[in-house]
Amino acid sequence: MSAPAAESTDILTIEDLSMRFPIRGHGLFARTTGEVHAVNGIDLSIRSGEVLGLVGESGCGKTTLGRCIVRSEQPTEGRLHYRGPDGRVVDLAALNVRELRPYQNQVRVVFQDPFSSLNPRMTILEIVGDPLKAGRIARGSELEERVAIMLKRVGLSPGHMRRYPHAFSGGERQRVNIARALITEPRLVIADEAVSALDVSVRAQVLNLLRDLQAEFNLTYLFISHDMSVVENICDRVAVMYLGKIVELADTAELYERPQHPYTEALLSAVPRPDPRLRGSGRRHRLPDNFPDPANPPSGCFFHTRCQYADEANCVEQRPDLRPILQDHRAACHHAEKLTLSGVEIENAS
Ligand SMILES: Nc1ncnc2c1ncn2[C@@H]1O[C@H](COP(=O)(O)OP(=O)(O)OP(=O)(O)O)[C@@H](O)[C@H]1O
Ligand code: SF4
Ligand SMILES: [Mg+2]
Repeated sequence: MSAPAAESTDILTIEDLSMRFPIRGHGLFARTTGEVHAVNGIDLSIRSGEVLGLVGESGCGKTTLGRCIVRSEQPTEGRLHYRGPDGRVVDLAALNVRELRPYQNQVRVVFQDPFSSLNPRMTILEIVGDPLKAGRIARGSELEERVAIMLKRVGLSPGHMRRYPHAFSGGERQRVNIARALITEPRLVIADEAVSALDVSVRAQVLNLLRDLQAEFNLTYLFISHDMSVVENICDRVAVMYLGKIVELADTAELYERPQHPYTEALLSAVPRPDPRLRGSGRRHRLPDNFPDPANPPSGCFFHTRCQYADEANCVEQRPDLRPILQDHRAACHHAEKLTLSGVEIENAS
């Protein structure tokens, strides 16, 4: 498919983005023996003000895509057209370290693990205030004041800002993580498994907080998760990723209720639904465990080695493009129009 045009409603247009990691053999003079294809020619637009979910199994490349967007990785190929607050579009993939600096305040990431991502030797004030200091945005009492306001906003007591991370629970540490991401007043936030490590009850609170903050600060989220049941309550649209490619993209309710890609159908079939009325046809499609090696992707449709609908003529030979199947609903499957796939009814957000 040709790259999507950058529309004025898009904050980020990802164009033909790829990230390959070299695989090195062992030994002192080890040569490169292959490449992991973590991200494989992705075209995807993030609309300003939306929550776009990015789902897929472990190892499909979600984090790598997020890391490319914040330029913790330099993508092997492709462009990242970011529309700044003045409407000017810049390719983040083409900027050098110095040129990137102002955008690093505008595009921020909330990491997965609240236990390992906070430096145990820094106080909460130092952790949350660090981006302000590093970006020379504020220091001294002004910095402290801004940290206090942000801590309060994420539901933490400013009086605790001189404490160390170990004094906080998992949910509170994730609030610290969120405060650190939002302190520079970003416009686009990559939330990478931001609630995955939390207990279910705490998870709902942090999801509510993320939703409130989005409305209050007019944020756009790329919300990364391997868990379809987390994504449905917070996302406006969902992109499904398989082996470094987007295989389906639609509004959340549309994607859950009328999936057009067999991989999405299989992911949805694992979503718990205590109420049988919400469980589509009730058919379950357990995914075989044979996730392909990203260093040696299958021919044709990458999903053909696990797809119950695969045929020799098309699926094994030809790579399907991500193309419109229904209105505002794209899928990369040769047989999308012919298949009647089962989805699940969306649960009302709590
Ligand atoms: N720095 C790296 N060097 C080599 N390979 C890497 C590197 N980072 C990621 N990979 C590989 O790229 C692929 C995609 O990994 P990635 O972490 O992006 O997946 P993910 O979808 O975020 O998975 P998870 O749900 O487990 O977080 C995997 O095969 C992984 O092993
Ligand atoms: S193109 Fe073929 S193998 Fe790929 S998802 Fe569609 S039916 Fe399955
Ligand atoms: Mg990840």
